[in-house]
Amino acid sequence: MDLNARFKGASAEQVLAFAAETFGNRLAFACSLGLEDVAVVDLLSRLPRAPRIFFLDTGRLNPETYDTLSALRRRYSLPIETYFPRHEAVEAYVNSHGPNAFYQTLELRKACCAIRKLEPLSRALTGADAWITGLRSDQAPTRTGLERFEIDNAHGGILKINPLADWSLEQTWAHVRQHEVPYNRLHDQGFPSIGCAPCTRAVGPGEDIRAGRWWWETPEHKECGLHAKDPSPKTPQETR
Ligand code: ADX
Ligand code: SF4
Repeated sequence: MDLNARFKGASAEQVLAFAAETFGNRLAFACSLGLEDVAVVDLLSRLPRAPRIFFLDTGRLNPETYDTLSALRRRYSLPIETYFPRHEAVEAYVNSHGPNAFYQTLELRKACCAIRKLEPLSRALTGADAWITGLRSDQAPTRTGLERFEIDNAHGGILKINPLADWSLEQTWAHVRQHEVPYNRLHDQGFPSIGCAPCTRAVGPGEDIRAGRWWWETPEHKECGLHAKDPSPKTPQETR
């Protein structure tokens, strides 16, 4: 894509400044409150006009993640919108399959992510022409070769902007420490990557940074679908 050539060698700050100027209020940042994302919040806070920032609360997060949201709200005067899953869909899933059915099969795990993350994401992106993520290419084999600008066919062909695509984990920590950005305390307890509490465990020394996410699955499945390349199949609630 031309934008990748145009911004080759540019900083994350320059990418974000361009995005904010170009898309205004039709730009949104998906903030998971993970390490990369608190760094992005800090970068956005330095822009003359920050984009919308939204957080998908799956209802199954660790207390430390909510503490991070509170700390960010205190530190920055940026609104962070929370999106919850549709309660009817959660009720139907839990009543049919049980509260922890995601451990049973890959299909049930993906169905839970579809209800708790994907459907709220599509609502959060309504009206957006572009969205920002905190993805980095060296986070996972599924993210190798990630570019800073992509067309997101899973969300109607809008632009997806990954300003930290070429940042290392060390560089991310350096930014967070240098600017004293509030971060999730679980990162200090062996959790380099944090998702929902029942689907995330601490990693041991030398283990891959995403080894603790959906640890019972093989690496090629360790994605919740937020970053799928193609539109996701409709959940039963959506097809009714
Ligand atoms: S995941 O797909 O495995 O859950 P990961 O935790 O690595 O993703 O986060 C990658 C990016 O997806 C984040 O930088 C953020 O942009 C987006 N994201 C993930 N989870 C959320 C969430 N709960 N709310 C908002 N954005 C999220
Ligand atoms: Fe459900 Fe686990 Fe996906 Fe969270 S990460 S939405 S609890 S399957």
